[in-house]
Amino acid sequence: MTDAPPSEPTPAPTVGPDSAPIASGAAVPPRRFDGQVALVTGASRGIGLGVAQRLQSEGATVVLTARTPESLAEAVASFPEGTAIGIAGKSDDPAHRAEVFDAVAARFGRLDVLVTNVGINPIYGPTIDVDLDAARKILDVNVLGTLAWVQGAVHHEGLGFRERRGRIVSISSVAGEMPSPGIGFYGVSKAAVSHLTRTLAVELGPDIRVNAIAPAVVKTQFARALYDGREAEVAATYPLGRLGTPEDIGAAVAYLASADADWITAQVLTADGGLLTAGGSA
Ligand SMILES: NC(=O)c1ccc[n+]([C@@H]2O[C@H](COP(=O)([O-])OP(=O)(O)OC[C@H]3O[C@@H](n4cnc5c(N)ncnc54)[C@H](OP(=O)(O)O)[C@@H]3O)[C@@H](O)[C@H]2O)c1
Repeated sequence: MTDAPPSEPTPAPTVGPDSAPIASGAAVPPRRFDGQVALVTGASRGIGLGVAQRLQSEGATVVLTARTPESLAEAVASFPEGTAIGIAGKSDDPAHRAEVFDAVAARFGRLDVLVTNVGINPIYGPTIDVDLDAARKILDVNVLGTLAWVQGAVHHEGLGFRERRGRIVSISSVAGEMPSPGIGFYGVSKAAVSHLTRTLAVELGPDIRVNAIAPAVVKTQFARALYDGREAEVAATYPLGRLGTPEDIGAAVAYLASADADWITAQVLTADGGLLTAGGSA
């Protein structure tokens, strides 16, 4: 397990009696997760790190996972002291998941927010010719992995997830909404993640809310091949004129996981700069 190193604690934002920011200048973020614990899978970089940073900036203690211990430790070290821990392992490994949930229960005795972010796409090409072993791996990690993380959070007695009105946000994709050339089977897996979201939301209410985000291209290592060397050209197909950032997705996840979304469940929020509506695909 990796802990954040000693550093200055995050200063509490200055708020007035009606919670309006007092200071002028940059907007002070809300603190919607004070005292809460959030687990984000696949969070050493990219969208997962952006999500963890946003939740922590709003008061959460964050638990990060990833396969590579070194880069996970670096990510944890970028957080203020005592606000982040990292546990390395493969998302689709049952022993890793058990280790994470046991560690969270032992250390914090609670879990409030679960963000299932890990998703893979090791293949590119027409779905008709997809290698079935690779397809099985995609389903294992993207779909069954997502389900298994939810099962672990809900069933682990040391986390009190249901009692705390736990919130789950999964990272799906616009590729699960509209067929995307070259990444068709990945899209099939993300369509399953989106439907899993709706199915679990119906089963787990009224205590637990379950939602997902479906991003278009977000500037990360995972998606680099989709825009490298031609970002302006790709961005021009988006009504908002730019690609997404991990911060964009972090803000959307924080909304769905917060009390501001207290009457919202079973939703897949498209975060795509308007791409799908304009007739585009990832
Ligand atoms: N970027 C986009 O355009 C985009 C769009 C729509 C949806 N998404 C979805 O967003 C999610 C995150 O993607 P990203 O773009 O942020 O990817 P990324 O930049 O490649 O980051 C992936 C993170 O997950 C970890 N990871 C990868 N495979 C893992 C595994 N099997 N077990 C545990 N950790 C694992 C990586 O660390 P290690 O390599 O050390 O394990 C890293 O921390 C995925 O579900 C993806 O499908 C991305």
